[in-house]
Amino acid sequence: MKEIALITGASSGIGYEIAKLFAADKTDLLIVARNEKKLLEIKIEFEEQFKVDVFTVAADLSSNQGIETVYEVVHSNNLIVNYLVNNAGFGDYGSFIDRSMEKYREMIQLNITSLTELSYFYGKEMVKRGKGRILNVASMAGLQPDPNFAVYGATKAYVISMSEAIHKEFENTGVTVTVLSPGATASNFMERANMNDAKLYASGVMTSLDVARAGYSGMMKGKLHVIPGFKNKILGFISGITPPGKLRLNIAAKVMAKK
Ligand SMILES: NC(=O)c1ccc[n+]([C@@H]2O[C@H](COP(=O)([O-])OP(=O)(O)OC[C@H]3O[C@@H](n4cnc5c(N)ncnc54)[C@H](OP(=O)(O)O)[C@@H]3O)[C@@H](O)[C@H]2O)c1
Repeated sequence: MKEIALITGASSGIGYEIAKLFAADKTDLLIVARNEKKLLEIKIEFEEQFKVDVFTVAADLSSNQGIETVYEVVHSNNLIVNYLVNNAGFGDYGSFIDRSMEKYREMIQLNITSLTELSYFYGKEMVKRGKGRILNVASMAGLQPDPNFAVYGATKAYVISMSEAIHKEFENTGVTVTVLSPGATASNFMERANMNDAKLYASGVMTSLDVARAGYSGMMKGKLHVIPGFKNKILGFISGITPPGKLRLNIAAKVMAKK
């Protein structure tokens, strides 16, 4: 049996950088994303540079089949998931009724369903073993409702809520749950989310590496929340103290506005 870190969405951006931090600390990896070629390049890169074993799963986690493939690869290679990083996710910017319902379905399946299933399945095994760490990647968008990013923000609010609850449930079991809430970060996310005309990415964008470092370190310390970056911490504080209602919604509408 081999202990590994399972990282979803490790082919680019924050997930890639988190995977690299694990590899640099000599943790063997199972990396998941849809782009098989990219995963195999990363496998070669990390195995050569860090002398770790890297298993890859090319799967679409917005389908049930994708999750099954992950279970099969873990099982058939006798792997023990000691760290689980639920990072794969995407958004779709624009007015609620102008965007595609099909995309919303995919987003909910990836950002919510897959993350829940993997947390459930491997969380259960971790608690049985009395050891393990889970890092769920949410977003600043999950801290309040987001006009022009309604469904994405709601999926991330789910991630924050569920992660907080199971962090508490797992207390004293040896298993920790950390929720990472990045703000605007340079990666492929903006392009895929159709956010070229969003004010949000005009300034104060963090690097994926800085966000990954904050998440990795918070996970290793078993922290509940990690909000990387000073500006995000201030915005997170405002969202935390502002009660649900018009003021909070109006601030969020300004943050999420088009240019
Ligand atoms: N960048 C930001 O501004 C920002 C802000 C807040 C939160 N976040 C969150 O941070 C996480 C990582 O995003 P990122 O910024 O690093 O963006 P990214 O560069 O687009 O990375 C997303 C990763 O998820 C994978 N992925 C996407 N759809 C998938 C699917 N259906 N099945 C399996 N893997 C899939 C992608 O690989 P393939 O395309 O190869 O599948 C890629 O590895 C996401 O959960 C995102 O919501 C990002």
